[in-house]
Amino acid sequence: MDKGKVAPSMMCADFTRLRETLDIFEKNKVEYLHIDVMDGHFVPNFTLSDCIMRQVRSLTDIPFDYHFMVENPQDKLDWFDIRSGDMVSVHFESTPHIQRCISKIREKGALAGVALNPATPLCSIEYLLPDIDFVLIMTVNPGFAGQKIVPQTLQKIKDARSFLNDRGYGDVQIETDGSVSFEIGKIMRENGADIFVAGTSSIFSKNGTLNDNLIKLRECIK
Ligand code: DX5
Ligand code: ZN
Repeated sequence: MDKGKVAPSMMCADFTRLRETLDIFEKNKVEYLHIDVMDGHFVPNFTLSDCIMRQVRSLTDIPFDYHFMVENPQDKLDWFDIRSGDMVSVHFESTPHIQRCISKIREKGALAGVALNPATPLCSIEYLLPDIDFVLIMTVNPGFAGQKIVPQTLQKIKDARSFLNDRGYGDVQIETDGSVSFEIGKIMRENGADIFVAGTSSIFSKNGTLNDNLIKLRECIK
């Protein structure tokens, strides 16, 4: 079994110390930068636009993990610098044309993912399985950093792993996003999560340096 992958949540990063932060990420070989894109409609918040992220992209080779929390993402994917090797997730709840949207991501050469809000059942993706490379299980309600976990989502991760394996999709990875602390990250890993969005609950926590927190999180999700 591969080791757990770390995707720092860039909406939690200190952009006044971006170069230093990216150096620490590169030193710790984080697998992706998690880019939360929010439109103020699908979720009650605005975050990371394309122009800012193009500048971040010019500073590092770390692949992006775009998490679109926007309405009708199929109409907006072309606005972004999506490259082969990136991960791109869109919310099942955000468009009536989810299959078309997922196909568009793959056409761009990126890994395609469907994101599920805490209450959205796993059966929603029954007829999407051939089209996805990962499922993003939201363990908080999307929109803000620093929220409390929705407790039943820990079981949802375990159920998702069984759901995928039982249907012959054991290679579809599970990403978990929201309140991934050191302790909860360990449980998420035991329950089958593969990729961990690291925010204020772990690596950007004030209790420790970014570098030490990254090392500590790695230990919890190995
Ligand atoms: C929530 C975002 C997450 C969040 C994770 O909508 O998608 O990336 O920032 O950070 P914490 O650990 O603060 O929940
Ligand atoms: Zn996210």
